[in-house]
Amino acid sequence: MPATSRRAVITGGTGFLGRKLAERLLVGWPDLERLTLADRAGPPDGWQLDDPRVELVIGDLVDRGFVETVVGDDVDLVFHLASVVSAGAEQDFDLGYAVNLHGTIGLLERCRAITAATGRRPMVVFASSVAAYGSGAGDPVGDATILRPESSYGVQKATGELLINDYHRKGFIDGRGLRLPTVSVRPGQPNLAASGFASGIIREPLDGVDCVCPVSPDTVIAVISPRRVVDGFCRIATIDGDRLGVDRILLLPGLAMAVAEAIEAVERAGRGRELGRVTFDVDPDIQRLVDSWPPAIVSERATALGFAGDDSVAAIVRQHIEDELEPELAVTTTDRTPLRPHAGGRSGPDR
Ligand SMILES: NC(=O)c1ccc[n+]([C@@H]2O[C@H](COP(=O)([O-])OP(=O)(O)OC[C@H]3O[C@@H](n4cnc5c(N)ncnc54)[C@H](O)[C@@H]3O)[C@@H](O)[C@H]2O)c1
Repeated sequence: MPATSRRAVITGGTGFLGRKLAERLLVGWPDLERLTLADRAGPPDGWQLDDPRVELVIGDLVDRGFVETVVGDDVDLVFHLASVVSAGAEQDFDLGYAVNLHGTIGLLERCRAITAATGRRPMVVFASSVAAYGSGAGDPVGDATILRPESSYGVQKATGELLINDYHRKGFIDGRGLRLPTVSVRPGQPNLAASGFASGIIREPLDGVDCVCPVSPDTVIAVISPRRVVDGFCRIATIDGDRLGVDRILLLPGLAMAVAEAIEAVERAGRGRELGRVTFDVDPDIQRLVDSWPPAIVSERATALGFAGDDSVAAIVRQHIEDELEPELAVTTTDRTPLRPHAGGRSGPDR
């Protein structure tokens, strides 16, 4: 967080990562005065944050009036997580562009207006995706790999990254972002993401539910756990912005996970449980899309700045069991370590 930061907004705040990030900020950031969760949908049943600092606001980010209401002049930190996810943006071209591109521009313009009105630049942390790479990007993909997306979602994320860099360069915002590998394991109901199988093949058998996997067992996908992503969002918001340089977006490390390996890890970790079965019914469209994503990710810049990935597929499966299935037994469900803002946080642009 910037040293002065007290009022934060998470767009997409009732989504999967938004909820996890909110839980972490509330325990780790004692100076936080208000945390606004802005989303077009309410949280899933059973999830609530019993904390007077939390404000839940339901509305559409495409509506600039809504953005103005949510991001008031006193806001100094916005985590921009709201998005129509991959298969959703592919199915509905207009909706994908409205939310993922024009919604992002509206949010950036709102933050620019705050800077103009107050002389205080809000920090905007953008959630990008490795879908911004296309097929043949290289194996492994790294910091220098060219972005050549082959999906509307990927184009919208790549454009969002460029916009963050440009609005930062102009001094309109303190722009930062993370390019995320597929996050696994996603709890609860699957969303429209084409990568949903990377969570489903772990989550559903552990829930005792059978799962139909739409890609072949030898498919390899780069993944990162929810804990490492939340750590990453906290770290990027607290590091000295000068260390990011001109390119404000960091690629997070992704562990190469083969579908067959994940199924074996669940069988080992789930001994003693009634496990659901995984069967295969390959969907050529999903297989093609997933095959266009990088199977392994090496992130030298992020690693040098202290961002970590996951050690093994087995550790990711264990983390899901601890956080979602046996949280009462876990000691690490929500990291309570205080977040330490970079001491030199300031309001002028990092040049
Ligand atoms: N989960 C992953 O594997 C993954 C991987 C790479 C990048 N990302 C990115 O991380 C971010 C968070 O992902 P997630 O997994 O939590 O997704 P999610 O679908 O669980 O959450 C996204 C939230 O955005 C909200 N939203 C969508 N359109 C909106 C609009 N017009 N106005 C207001 N809210 C709107 C949705 O209601 C949802 O709650 C997204 O930007 C996503 O693209 C996620």
